[in-house]
Amino acid sequence: MSKNRYEKSEELLELALKSIPLGSQTFSKSITQLPFGVSPYFVKKAKGAYFWDVDNNQYLDFSNALASVTLGYCDSDVDSAVKKQMECGVTFSLPHTLEADVAKILIDAIPCAEQVRFAKNGTDATSGAVRVARAFTGKERVAVCGYHGWQDWYIGSTTKNLGVPKCVQDLTHVFSYNNIDSLKNILEKYPDEFAAVIMEPMSGEYPKDNFLEKVKELAHNSGALLIFDETVTGFRVSYGGAQELFGVTPDLATFGKGLANGYPLSALVGKEKYMVIMKDIFFSGTFGGETLSLAAAKAVLEKIKREKVLEHLSKLGEYLHKELDQLLSELDMLPLISYTGHPSWSFLIFKDKDNTTSWELKTFFMQEMFKRGIFTIGAQTISYEHNQKDIDKLLHAYKEVFSMMKDYVKDGVLQSKLDCETLKPLFSVR
Ligand SMILES: Cc1ncc(COP(=O)(O)O)c(C=O)c1O
Repeated sequence: MSKNRYEKSEELLELALKSIPLGSQTFSKSITQLPFGVSPYFVKKAKGAYFWDVDNNQYLDFSNALASVTLGYCDSDVDSAVKKQMECGVTFSLPHTLEADVAKILIDAIPCAEQVRFAKNGTDATSGAVRVARAFTGKERVAVCGYHGWQDWYIGSTTKNLGVPKCVQDLTHVFSYNNIDSLKNILEKYPDEFAAVIMEPMSGEYPKDNFLEKVKELAHNSGALLIFDETVTGFRVSYGGAQELFGVTPDLATFGKGLANGYPLSALVGKEKYMVIMKDIFFSGTFGGETLSLAAAKAVLEKIKREKVLEHLSKLGEYLHKELDQLLSELDMLPLISYTGHPSWSFLIFKDKDNTTSWELKTFFMQEMFKRGIFTIGAQTISYEHNQKDIDKLLHAYKEVFSMMKDYVKDGVLQSKLDCETLKPLFSVR
């Protein structure tokens, strides 16, 4: 019998599950998302576009730490900035001047940014933004579109609402991207009760028919602030974020993920007239001004600007999309698979077909991609370390895996080709 490719991962998972619920700190890195028997669970090290799991399997990574590693792993500029800062200390008894240095870079880069506050996770920043909006407007309801993190005010509006008080859930209303009527209806149902409209300015779809402009107008007409959650789009789709790319400036915006190439840092930015209220609301944490992440962010932002990093991501992503279009049509795959998103961050969409479910397709896809040394759960997250050869490797694997999927679906046997249980549709926000 051949050696189990994920033997060590599975042993360590068994141990981890004894001390850590789900065995992971991040839902998207847990067993709920990675089918047991065909997935790695623990990473040993990473460099550039690759990582190695604890069984020493090497992966070309298209997840890139959930889109937080834009420059690639262990970027030398970021690493040396962090090491230099480490020699001077990490967290102090007073603020460090790096806070104002990085704030100034963000203000220069982002159209709506006149003032800045830092935090650690994207969730901190979106939650701070909603609190600013509630404090400024004196209203309580929020309209949400996309994913905004784990705090009560947002997660209460999803199927993962266990533990969120009903009275908090009742204040959050979901609207759909590119469906202006869905926002109009909720704002009209509760006139003058909305503090904020918060949304991902783009996740899968591009805005159509002036959607963002219309959202801004509706939000302002109802007395609410417009918040763009740029946790993913920030420092990925454009240096000034999606607000710069689409030419629509919100009142407040939040950044995280790629801001510091994997170091924990997020930022809430916005117009001064709203941000000043942060003097009065409470938004404060021991590690808010932690300097390794700020030093990393400074190095990231300087490098993105200096080396045209984002042009590289877009160009490679455009190449991928062009070749993928061709592959999907050549293999007549569109009834099973399509894709959506910006060239720098896009993802495959698996579809139900005949007796095969989209979840069976996705599970099979992951099983086969992982086996081929490519880490993707459907995302095509491009980093600065990827090159055209890497994209060709991805496409080569797609060709093999898609062809198998097509044949197995046609013959009604895909389910029998799974070496694991099918993933369950637990939670979907996009
Ligand atoms: C658009 C968006 N907003 C907010 C968040 C929450 O960020 P974090 O997980 O850092 O709290 C995420 C995380 O995936 C996100 O994609």
